[in-house]
Amino acid sequence: MKIFVTGAYGYSGQYIARRLMAEGHDVFTLTNSPNRGNVLGDRIIAYPLDFQNSDRMAGVMEGADALVNTYWVRFNHPLFRISDAVQNAHNLFRAAGKAGIRKIVHISITNPDIHSSLEYFAGKARLEAELVQSDMATTILRPAVIFGREDILLNNIAWALRRFPLFLIFGDGNYRLQPIYVEDLAELVAQNISNEKSGIINAIGPETYTFNELISTIKEELKLRRAVVHAPPVVGYLATKAISWWKRDVLITSDEIKGLMANLLYTDSPPAGSTSFRGWIRENRNRLGMCYANEVKRRTNRIAPYA
Ligand SMILES: NC(=O)c1ccc[n+]([C@@H]2O[C@H](COP(=O)([O-])OP(=O)(O)OC[C@H]3O[C@@H](n4cnc5c(N)ncnc54)[C@H](OP(=O)(O)O)[C@@H]3O)[C@@H](O)[C@H]2O)c1
Repeated sequence: MKIFVTGAYGYSGQYIARRLMAEGHDVFTLTNSPNRGNVLGDRIIAYPLDFQNSDRMAGVMEGADALVNTYWVRFNHPLFRISDAVQNAHNLFRAAGKAGIRKIVHISITNPDIHSSLEYFAGKARLEAELVQSDMATTILRPAVIFGREDILLNNIAWALRRFPLFLIFGDGNYRLQPIYVEDLAELVAQNISNEKSGIINAIGPETYTFNELISTIKEELKLRRAVVHAPPVVGYLATKAISWWKRDVLITSDEIKGLMANLLYTDSPPAGSTSFRGWIRENRNRLGMCYANEVKRRTNRIAPYA
């Protein structure tokens, strides 16, 4: 098959592209960063994500069989907004339709909700609704949180545990999350790319952690002795703001904290991935959290590789 993967020089897109190439598919990418350093080298041809010109994107995708969409914007920032990402993804889907794409695999989020006050979850729900109503067959994969070498959230939790003597947990820490390994997500894409069926899969890993358990698992596997203290969410948020200011980044947003604490990164579905987060940390204990992963830098430096 001829397949376009958005953001194949990014995080999940890179693993998805590699997995599809291993299946023998011809893989191309649409990216905001065609010159970004990446492990795929010249094995993949890159085209710009030209959201303002749907016809040009359609021309690029003409004759392709499928599109895998990873494109999204994590939070609002002076340089980008979630509402723009919704419109941009809409333009991408329109281009795919015009190009005659038959199948879209779209990466979403657990528990999207059009009525949510959290823009991330509401925007994702709008895009899902659009795809469900389109003429193209669509598989929607809903991960909660994705772990792997280029991950930001879990890496930066490990970084903070390594760096500071004290770790603050937002509130009681009993809210849950279900991490999936990035290669397991890529496998789900590979399993669903060539069928013309539509469906929604909660792309969660085999383990459910409360936030308290997640922190103690990382601590144990990294062999760290750190004081962990429960703090009102606003206090925890102010601590993350200080780190964001220091690193010139956005470590986590108040909406992300609300989503996490509202159990939106948890579902009661059966696991779709098989890789253990604990086992993966054990294998990557010399790497995880050694460096801070900076989201804003990834957006402003379009040359440096994610790793
Ligand atoms: N990472 C997680 O833990 C997680 C959890 C749940 C759901 N998801 C969903 O999984 C999908 C892929 O996530 P990922 O972490 O693998 O993403 P990513 O590789 O960091 O980004 C995916 C694509 O979106 C583009 N992009 C991201 N932020 C952007 C911004 N602010 N402005 C312009 N372009 C931007 C990237 O641009 P470039 O082309 O420049 O690289 C890339 O093409 C997303 O839809 C996300 O919502 C991720």
